[in-house]
Amino acid sequence: MTIIQVRDLSFTYAGSSKPALKNVNISVEKGEFVLVVGPSGGGKSTLLRCLNGLIPQFYEGEYSGKVVVDGLEPDKTPTYMMSQVIGMVFQNPQNQLFALSVEADIAFPLENLGLPRDEIIQRVEEAMELLNITHLRDRSPFELSGGQQQRVAIASVLAIKPKILAMDEPTSFLDPLTAAQLLSIIDDVRKRLQLTVLLVEHRVELAAAKADRIVVVSDGCVVFDGSPRDFFEFYDSHLYGVSSPKVTSLSKRLKTHLEKWNRVCLSAEEFEAEVRSLVSHL
Ligand SMILES: Nc1ncnc2c1ncn2[C@@H]1O[C@H](COP(=O)(O)OP(=O)(O)OP(=O)(O)O)[C@@H](O)[C@H]1O
Ligand SMILES: [Mg+2]
Repeated sequence: MTIIQVRDLSFTYAGSSKPALKNVNISVEKGEFVLVVGPSGGGKSTLLRCLNGLIPQFYEGEYSGKVVVDGLEPDKTPTYMMSQVIGMVFQNPQNQLFALSVEADIAFPLENLGLPRDEIIQRVEEAMELLNITHLRDRSPFELSGGQQQRVAIASVLAIKPKILAMDEPTSFLDPLTAAQLLSIIDDVRKRLQLTVLLVEHRVELAAAKADRIVVVSDGCVVFDGSPRDFFEFYDSHLYGVSSPKVTSLSKRLKTHLEKWNRVCLSAEEFEAEVRSLVSHL
């Protein structure tokens, strides 16, 4: 079942002479995990803003084409309604947190939606449990680490129960280990909730093996849309402004030079499995 349909979408920010998106076409199936990558300024954030209606409702410019997200057209639907279908998480969690406690931060949007008190309490508990932050419930979000803050931001979005979670470089402010932990939690949560996920992420080595699809956006156009394995195995990702996971470059070289090496790997786990299988056949 298709949950996101983007047809011939173009957008030029007001005052800009160059379109940020040019005739973009994408469709996303329910439950898919789509990794969105591409060079800086390519149009990734602009694309996400078009999916939740921030563009054209809050950013002025020239908009054409058709976007349908779970049956709603984001350019014509109030953003509070869009937020119940597509939750957004941004680079800097501090921009999404403002209450005195973690619990209050997660509850705030639910209170705004006018949900009954019991429902709010239950949803806050579930969201904290999902993101493993129940022990932080009384803490001020501003005293937490970046990784903890980002988990609170994700919990407050998921408590609204959207069908789609869209994240724009959520690990940018995190160290590599915390980034890896966050992406594992996101992967775990999306499987448990059967969420559709769109993730803009430049740390491809942490995300490529988890994603079902990779969409490369460059100069306002979708220049690749397919499986991460095909992209990294058959294309020179650097030509698309996308770094490839180190294990991918290494396993590509081994495949060329070692007859028995079969596989282009996307993660350290796949690389380890390939080495183990080779060793066991020696
Ligand atoms: N608020 C804005 N006003 C005017 N132009 C903008 C605005 N935001 C982005 N742009 C322009 O639109 C184009 C696409 O930018 P966008 O932020 O979508 O790229 P991106 O792929 O998300 O880049 P990055 O990887 O650096 O985040 C760029 O040329 C950028 O300068
Ligand atoms: Mg961006």
